[in-house]
Amino acid sequence: MKNRLYIETYGCQMNVYDSRVILDNLKRAGFTEVKSPEQADVLLLNTCAVRDNAEQRVIGRIGELMRYKKDRKDVLMGVVGCMAQRLGEQLHARRKAVDLVVGTDQYGRIAEMIDSVRETGKPKFDTTASDISTYQASPEYDPENNTHFISITRGCDYRCTFCVVPNTRGALRPKDPKTVVSEVEAIVQERGGVEVTLLGQNVTAYRHEEASFADLLRRVNEVEGLRRIRFLTNHPTDFTEETLRAIAECEKVSPWLHVPIQSGSDRILRRMKRGYRRKEYLELVARCREVLPDVSFSTDIIVGFPGETEEDFQQTLSVMREMRYDSAFVFKYSARPGTPAAKLRDDVAEELKGERIQGVNALQGELWEMEAAALKGSRWEVAIEGPDRKGRGFLRARTLNNRKVLVPARDDLGRGDELLVHVTGSQATTFFAETLGVVWKYDRVAA
Ligand code: SAH
Ligand code: F3S
Repeated sequence: MKNRLYIETYGCQMNVYDSRVILDNLKRAGFTEVKSPEQADVLLLNTCAVRDNAEQRVIGRIGELMRYKKDRKDVLMGVVGCMAQRLGEQLHARRKAVDLVVGTDQYGRIAEMIDSVRETGKPKFDTTASDISTYQASPEYDPENNTHFISITRGCDYRCTFCVVPNTRGALRPKDPKTVVSEVEAIVQERGGVEVTLLGQNVTAYRHEEASFADLLRRVNEVEGLRRIRFLTNHPTDFTEETLRAIAECEKVSPWLHVPIQSGSDRILRRMKRGYRRKEYLELVARCREVLPDVSFSTDIIVGFPGETEEDFQQTLSVMREMRYDSAFVFKYSARPGTPAAKLRDDVAEELKGERIQGVNALQGELWEMEAAALKGSRWEVAIEGPDRKGRGFLRARTLNNRKVLVPARDDLGRGDELLVHVTGSQATTFFAETLGVVWKYDRVAA
């Protein structure tokens, strides 16, 4: 058999989704998936280009995977995803073992491109754009955390000066709302799924001729049998009052908002071309807190952007104190070729970037500890996601606003069940709770 496919996925959840799209397409063309590279005839790496170290890992991995081609000359290696889109043919020039480079809009063509490489013995590249408004993945059987990912947009219309995404994923293109709704329906009907996470570089900018993001939330909220809807990532500038109202009014929609701030300093925000100032961000958050009583926030932060002074960095720490995020993902600035910021001198020393990362993480830990202590005694509704990964006799569960909770395992409880719990304590970002009652029982037979 010549059609065994091995695929390795790097980067964000949108790539996880895209790998499933690729797998679906190749299965239709007669491929089967294998779980280790030595069994495969085609090796694919679905890549990320957001930071340099993500790309370096892939270059290293190509080097490792080359040995499977040495042993068996007919094995093909392909690179797909953002790094493929960014580098195109250059990837083959740098690593001759790469036979196939497929950009983010051309996943429908991979089977045909594999045939062509096999017939001609020549590498194939395609990084051109195409219509992606109706692309979709078949529903997963057993998704991580019991949530089914669905990408609803591709690309981004912003031009944050540090970000490579507009170059790799192109302009923002929405998926047809009918396609999104039919994917959600298939998840519920075919897999007994109860939770979806709508994904995009910037979901709040979703706009299709038939629906705004708020309309889309309302339409998905109506899907019978679905219990929860999460979404990410949000951009502060597109967060409309209409979206806020939809979140408030749709009982299934999670009031967890991942709203990257990137920096607390207006001077840096301006240089990043983020399109908002600190005050506007905080005003939006205040409005969200007014309208959504259970709202929780998480964020992304970049430290060491060109020209970031100690004073700028202190502004980032002070905005964290005002915000009280549930969690903050912090990255060292990494200059990306072709982005506007790459022209600026990357003048914050690597060591100082490292110290600032530690500073952000230490403060986040401290602030969160106070926040978590104040939540002790709360009564929350949670949904069970599965057994505790560390096998301590707990079940992992999550609140609608995305807080992780461990409850004592019980034989009559399992994935999907919803409970009322009483919070008894916490450790880092995980809460411990006792079960007060079962709110809703997941019908495992139907699933
Ligand atoms: N809106 C996107 C953001 C894309 S990248 C989303 O859906 O997540 C994710 C995060 O990576 C960004 O929010 C930013 O904090 C970080 N990032 C992007 N480019 C970066 C760079 N050049 N250096 C360091 N971090 C970067
Ligand atoms: Fe990147 Fe800014 Fe868009 S971070 S994905 S250009 S909102």
